[in-house]
Amino acid sequence: MILTKTQLLPATDDSLALAARLLAEGELVAFPTETVYGLGAHAMDAQAVLGIFSAKGRPADNPLIVHIHDRSQLDGICEVNDAAIRLMDAFWPGPLTIILPRKDAVPDEVTAKLDTVAVRMPSHPVAMALLKACNLPIAAPSANRSGKPSPTSARHVFDDMDGRIPLIIDGGESDVGLESTVISLAGEKPCILRPGGVTKAMLEEVLGPVDLAGSILRPLEKGEKALSPGMMYKHYSPDGQVTLIEGEESAVVEALRRLYAHAASEGHRACVMCFTEHVAALADCHPHDIGSKDDPTEVAHRLFATLRGLDDEKMDVIFSEVVPPEGVGLAVMNRLGRAAAFRTVWSMVLYIALESGFMSSDTPGMFAPFNQ
Ligand code: TXA
Ligand code: MG
Repeated sequence: MILTKTQLLPATDDSLALAARLLAEGELVAFPTETVYGLGAHAMDAQAVLGIFSAKGRPADNPLIVHIHDRSQLDGICEVNDAAIRLMDAFWPGPLTIILPRKDAVPDEVTAKLDTVAVRMPSHPVAMALLKACNLPIAAPSANRSGKPSPTSARHVFDDMDGRIPLIIDGGESDVGLESTVISLAGEKPCILRPGGVTKAMLEEVLGPVDLAGSILRPLEKGEKALSPGMMYKHYSPDGQVTLIEGEESAVVEALRRLYAHAASEGHRACVMCFTEHVAALADCHPHDIGSKDDPTEVAHRLFATLRGLDDEKMDVIFSEVVPPEGVGLAVMNRLGRAAAFRTVWSMVLYIALESGFMSSDTPGMFAPFNQ
C-alpha cells in the first residue's frame, strides 16, 4: 500500500467540499456518524470500494453498508418494500441499517456478491452534510483497522488510518458509540443480524414480531453460516485478553478483586472494567469506569473508547462486568462478548471453588486462560 499524508480537519464548509471532491474522484474519506466513524468511498465505483478493503485489511467477503441522504437515491440500489418504508419513516435518519434485495448496478465489491445490499441514512449533521455535498451513495464500514474496536472519535480513526487515507473529518465524539442495528428484510421474516441503538422492542412496535440471529450472544457453531458475514470474524477486540464476570453484584465485585489480584501477582498488566458504582470498591484493581449499571446507553457510548484505551495502556489481562442483555444492553453484550471471545467466569462458581478449598489461586490451570 502506498503511504499517503493523512489530513485531520474539523468539519467546515471547506473541508466538506474537499471531502466531497475526494470521494467523487474515488478517494477514501473518514467521517463521523452518530454511531461510529465511517470510512467512505463512492459506492458505485468498484475501484474506490476496493480501496476500503485494503485500507482496513478487511476480508473481501464482508459486505459494506451504503449510506444515503435522500430516499430517492435507493432507486438505483435496492428493491424497497412496505416494511422497509415503515422502518425508514420511524427510524431514518438514524442508527438503523436495512438489508434489502439489491439492484444490479451495485458493484459486487460492495455486497460481497450477495443478492442483498445494506442501506442506511445516518442522522449525524456532518455525515448528512457530506452526503449532500457529494450527492453520491457512500459505502462505509466502520473506520477501524479490521478486528479493532470501531472508532468513536477522529483520534481513533487517525490511530488506525494514518498514512492509509487522505482525509479524516473530525465531528467530535460519536453519540451512540456502537454500530447501527442491522435488520434484514430480505428473508421471510424480519431478522436482526446485529443489535444496536434501535432495539428489538422499538422495531417490533413498527413491524410486529422480529427474529434475532442466533449468533448474537454466542460464537458461531462449527459449520453454521453467518447471516451477517461480519459476525464470522473476531471483532471489537483489544490486544489483551478480556474475561467477563457474571453473577450477583457483590459476588462479581469480589470475583473481580480476586482475579485482578491473582493476575497482578503473576506480573500481568491487569485491570478491571466496572460500573461507576463499583469504582471505589475496586480502587486497587486499576478500575476503568464503563458507566452506571443503571444506564446501558452510557455503557454503549463508552465501550469502544474503553477497549481502545486498554491497548494504549498495553493491558494484557482484563476482567469486565456485564450488563443484562436487554434493550441497548443486548448490543453492548454482543460487542463485549466478542471482545472476550465469549470467555465468561461465573462469580458464584469461582467463589464456591475458592471458599470450599476445592481450588486455590495456586491451583494449576485455574487461571490458565489468562496465561496464554
Ligand atoms: O453504524 C454503522 O453501521 C457504521 C457506520 C459507519 O454507518 N458502519 C458499520 O459498518 O458498522 P461495518 O462494515 O463495520 O458493519 C456492517 C455490518 C457487517 O457485519 C456486515 O457483514 C453486515 O453489516 N452487512 C453488510 N451488508 C450485508 C448484507 N447484504 N447482508 C448481511 N449483512 C450485511
Ligand atoms: Mg466494522
